[in-house]
Amino acid sequence: RPFRIAVLPGDGIGKEVMPEGLKVLKTAADKFGLNLEYRHFEWASCDYYAQTGQMMPDDWKSHLQDCDAIYFGAVGWPAIVPDHTSLYGSLLKFRREFDQYINLRPVRLFDGVPCPLANRKAGDIDFFVVRENTEGEYSAVGGKMFEGTDREIVLQESIFTRIGCDRVLRFAFEMASRRARKHLTIATKSNGIAISMPYWDERAAEIGKEYPGVTTDKQHIDILSARFVLTPDRFDVVVASNLFGDILSDLGPACTGTIGLAPSANLNPDRKFPSLFEPVHGSAPDIAGKNIANPIAMIWSGALMLDYLGRGLTGAAQKPYLDAHDAIVKAIEDVLVQGPHTPDLGGKASTSQIGDALSKVLAK
Ligand code: NAI
Ligand code: MG
Repeated sequence: RPFRIAVLPGDGIGKEVMPEGLKVLKTAADKFGLNLEYRHFEWASCDYYAQTGQMMPDDWKSHLQDCDAIYFGAVGWPAIVPDHTSLYGSLLKFRREFDQYINLRPVRLFDGVPCPLANRKAGDIDFFVVRENTEGEYSAVGGKMFEGTDREIVLQESIFTRIGCDRVLRFAFEMASRRARKHLTIATKSNGIAISMPYWDERAAEIGKEYPGVTTDKQHIDILSARFVLTPDRFDVVVASNLFGDILSDLGPACTGTIGLAPSANLNPDRKFPSLFEPVHGSAPDIAGKNIANPIAMIWSGALMLDYLGRGLTGAAQKPYLDAHDAIVKAIEDVLVQGPHTPDLGGKASTSQIGDALSKVLAK
């Protein structure tokens, strides 16, 4: 049967970059003979909230769970819905209910993109951040006591389970083992956070025994962040807990130019539930409706989705899905060098012109 893809554009520029993502996927499907089927949904958006008072219908799960992947634009329109309501009412539900315990972000510097770091050229920066996406510092365990008095206490626990640590660490080791440099950096803070972080380190050492071919180094999150800026060429795969990974996975793309390029994958590698592919950026109300958003993050996220559907992203990806992924990334490289460019890259092209140009290069 075809792969079923749920299409959720969301809000703002999500609705503008999604058609370009689909355009490129269609070109790739025609060229490589991919079997893809789409289901389009208008919910998981603030427009839907404005009509119904909720972000999604009650039976949202039944629409998505028999899909193989979710292709997601961006959600949020703070003028009508507070951000925590829109995010918790959609994206965060997907991550939790579908046990998408890996958040994966490539960090790559392309030719043709001005790098905010001095003296860096394409090829110098090319690594992955693997973030734990379901537990750790982002737990709901805690509470308040003596509220409103000067004895007020607020407590929030971190949760590190053996299963939770082992599965994200194993994913990261697996990913590193399949790359040329075979190197994994493990983010920690065991000098300051003296219970959970030594445990994380201990699990990393244990899982590492399964991957003798992968070299590792352990870095405290403070110096690790500094090195993202100072020596980004040293990294291959970086694995981190939920909070540290959240920070690193914004810092990484920030070091390589515009946010309009950065893709991400929220994965349930067990494939029990659909995984979700989305640009890192949000709905950008400041530029929405102008047809000037850069669609490349959306398009690259689509390429990651094809790789995953073809059982790659730490499995052995099959032709023709891997070929399609590689060809889309190559088309992105070409268009970034030769143009056209959207205004965030100093050009004058529209969102749809980038989608057209990329499709044309891809179809060749
Ligand atoms: P944002 O990523 O939407 O925008 C930040 C800045 O980057 C803006 O100046 C915007 O114009 C620019 N930008 C973003 N994407 C771009 C693109 N493709 N091309 C060119 N420029 C681009 O972040 P912001 O402003 O903090 O949030 C806006 C809304 O998006 C909020 O409602 C927020 O909650 C939501 N949001 C949703 C996310 C998601 O759906 N995963 C992620 C981040 C924010
Ligand atoms: Mg973040």
